[in-house]
Parts: sequence; C-alpha cells; structure tokens
Amino acid sequence: MKITVSEKKTEYEVVIGKGFLSSFGERFSVSGKTLIVSDDGVPQKYAEEVAKGLKSVYKFVITQGEGSKNLKNFSDVLAFMLENGFERTDNVVAVGGGVVGDLAGFVAASYMRGVNFYNVPTTFLSEVDSSIGGKTAIDFCGVKNSVGAFYPPKGVLIDTDTLKTLGKRQLSSGIAESVKMAATFDKELFSLLENTDDFERDAEEIIRKSLEIKKRVVENDFKETGLRRALNFGHTVGHAIESACFPRLLHGECVALGMLVFSSEEVRER
Ligand SMILES: NC(=O)c1ccc[n+]([C@@H]2O[C@H](COP(=O)([O-])OP(=O)(O)OC[C@H]3O[C@@H](n4cnc5c(N)ncnc54)[C@H](O)[C@@H]3O)[C@@H](O)[C@H]2O)c1
Repeated sequence: MKITVSEKKTEYEVVIGKGFLSSFGERFSVSGKTLIVSDDGVPQKYAEEVAKGLKSVYKFVITQGEGSKNLKNFSDVLAFMLENGFERTDNVVAVGGGVVGDLAGFVAASYMRGVNFYNVPTTFLSEVDSSIGGKTAIDFCGVKNSVGAFYPPKGVLIDTDTLKTLGKRQLSSGIAESVKMAATFDKELFSLLENTDDFERDAEEIIRKSLEIKKRVVENDFKETGLRRALNFGHTVGHAIESACFPRLLHGECVALGMLVFSSEEVRER
C-alpha cells in the first residue's frame, strides 16, 4: 500500500506493509552513508533489519523517553556525523517512535543545511501521525517542541509487524490520535475503530485511513495556519493535562481525555 504526500514542493512516498523492513534501502534507492537513529526501548532487531539493505551504516541509540528530545542529544548526533565524515548527500533514518523521529528529523534538517531524512516509525502514534507532516523538533528550556524545523522526509516505511512488540498502553495512546482524526474527518474510520474485532488484521487499514486524513490536511495547510489546527482536536485540554500529569500519563491518553471534554454526550458514550 502506498500513499504519496506533497509537502513544501517535495513529494515522498509512504509505504505500508508487513515484514519488509529489510527492503528499506532498495525501495528508496538509498546510497552513501546512512545513520540510523533509534532508542534503547525500540527492539534493536528493527534497526538491524533496516540496515540489511544498506552499504555504509552507522548507528546512534539514544535513551528512550521524551527527556531525550533535548539539545544535548541533538548536538551529540550532529558531532557523531561530523566525526564520521557525513556529507550533504548522506542519509539519516529514524527507526523508532515520535521521539526518535522528531530528534532525528531535526538533526537531518540541520546537518550541512539538510541531508536526506527517512522515517521508519515503530509506534502506532508515529505510524498514524508523526511520521508525515514534516514537523521535527526538540524540547528546549522546558518547552515541548519549541525548537525545530519543517523538514519533510524523503520516504516513510511503515511495517505493521513492529506493533507486535509495542506495549498495550503505547498502542492505545496511538489509537487515540487515530480516533481524533476519525472524529474530525472520517466517520468510516470512526466506525472501523469502534467495531474492529481483529486489530492486527485492521491495523494497516486504520493507519492508511489516518494518514490519508493527515495527508489531505498537511497538503492544504503545511505550516498549520488553518485547517491543520483541526488536528489539534483534544490537544488544548490534553496539553494542560499532560503538563500536570507528565510522565504518568502518555500523550495519547491526555488527548483522549481532552477530546472527551469537547465531545457530545452521544460521542462520549460511544
Ligand atoms: N512531528 C509530529 O508531527 C508529531 C506528532 C505527534 C507527536 N509527536 C511527538 O512524538 C513523541 C511521542 O511519540 P511516541 O508516542 O511514538 O513515543 P516514543 O517515541 O517515546 O515511544 C514510546 C515508547 O515505545 C518504545 N518503542 C518504540 N517502538 C517500539 C516497538 N515497536 N516495540 C516496543 N517498544 C517500542 C520507545 O522506546 C518508547 O519507550 C512526542 O515527543 C511528541 O511530541 C510529533
């Protein structure tokens, strides 16, 4: 399954499937040096699979968690690339969730004024949401995502087999973002989420439908001036809850609570 996204005058492909991480290099014709950025909570077999089809591979593993989206890691990854002679035509691949994607994407946007960036998201949240749209960032001076860049990837590869190792809470947190997209744009997706009796079977369809929504919104409003704000449904109250309850509650859990406040009684009950 393929989706083509147009952002900032560039087009890229999102491929969704199962058991095909090792085809990454070939699918996107990746050449030159490649830095794979991951975190220590992501099963390392995923980075190893991605590395299989690549020639000159380097790896950088950060500590898992939001705390890693910081200036020190940003600087350490850049220094690692300089030390290893990375050039402007080389590549950075994020293999992990939104934390890895946001940090690695910002590194890619900044090194030599921009190298090729690819995303291989491995959490449900990053597969339905953060892997497309071009937002990259780190947290700075205690403010989430306050320093970053709009920098679209060259390609995104989503392998739904990676969800098999994801904990239930992380999965539900990601599903909340999908519910948000369904509630704002797509009643068929809402009904699929509500009625699925085999999530593993339907995951690919849910991801595709969610990404189609985000794609439409991003293509029409890349810099988040109007329509894209609709995707912030649940986030105003959600962010307030997150500030008060971090790190006890996950992002999606806070968004879910934030959406409930603004939902009708009927939707709330469903
Ligand atoms: N750029 C965007 O458009 C955008 C959109 C939404 C959220 N975000 C950002 O995304 C981040 C949250 O992302 P997230 O929810 O993916 O969290 P995350 O990246 O912190 O990942 C959650 C946990 O799951 C682990 N993990 C990842 N993949 C796994 C797998 N397949 N199996 C087992 N464990 C796995 C990680 O090690 C981590 O401990 C936040 O920083 C948020 O700001 C960015």
